[in-house]
Amino acid sequence: VRATDYLVLELPSLDVNVALARLVVAAFAARLEFTLTEIEEIKVAVSEAVTNAVVHAYGHHPGLVRIQAWVEDGALLVTVCDQGVGIDDVFRAREPAFSTVAERMGMGFSFMEAFCDELRVDSSPGRGTTIHMLKRPRRLPVD
Ligand SMILES: Nc1ncnc2c1ncn2[C@@H]1O[C@H](COP(=O)(O)OP(=O)(O)OP(=O)(O)O)[C@@H](O)[C@H]1O
Ligand SMILES: [Mg+2]
Repeated sequence: VRATDYLVLELPSLDVNVALARLVVAAFAARLEFTLTEIEEIKVAVSEAVTNAVVHAYGHHPGLVRIQAWVEDGALLVTVCDQGVGIDDVFRAREPAFSTVAERMGMGFSFMEAFCDELRVDSSPGRGTTIHMLKRPRRLPVD
């Protein structure tokens, strides 16, 4: 992170921390002129990314989830990073309705994609996963 104003939040990969991460990122996003709808979209995207780290990354032994956020060229950038099992086939994982867990819908990446302007997934098996999300305010600030 090169920006001087940024957020770094490191949390154990527990269910209770999904809501916390979502709220903290939403508060940070107030640095830009997002609409309430856009803030809701950011919350959903962050929830899905953090939930994935909680559910898929570490199995039964909680690890750490690191969330970073900063503003670059008028856009919000958020990364969600774990050092868990990683994803074997990122292309397949990003397809709608693909899940490795029977009772899940496999829609997390689809929501992230729908609610972000750009989404990048870096993952290597055995080393972990980093999700990069970029969101621009649709409405230009008026002065
Ligand atoms: N952080 C992660 N670590 C390891 N595997 C992951 C991670 N995030 C996603 N995956 C893999 O990618 C698949 C697709 O993720 P996605 O969020 O789209 O669906 P899901 O989590 O299975 O279901 P849903 O999000 O609808 O509850 C997961 O089933 C899992 O196998
Ligand atoms: Mg998911």
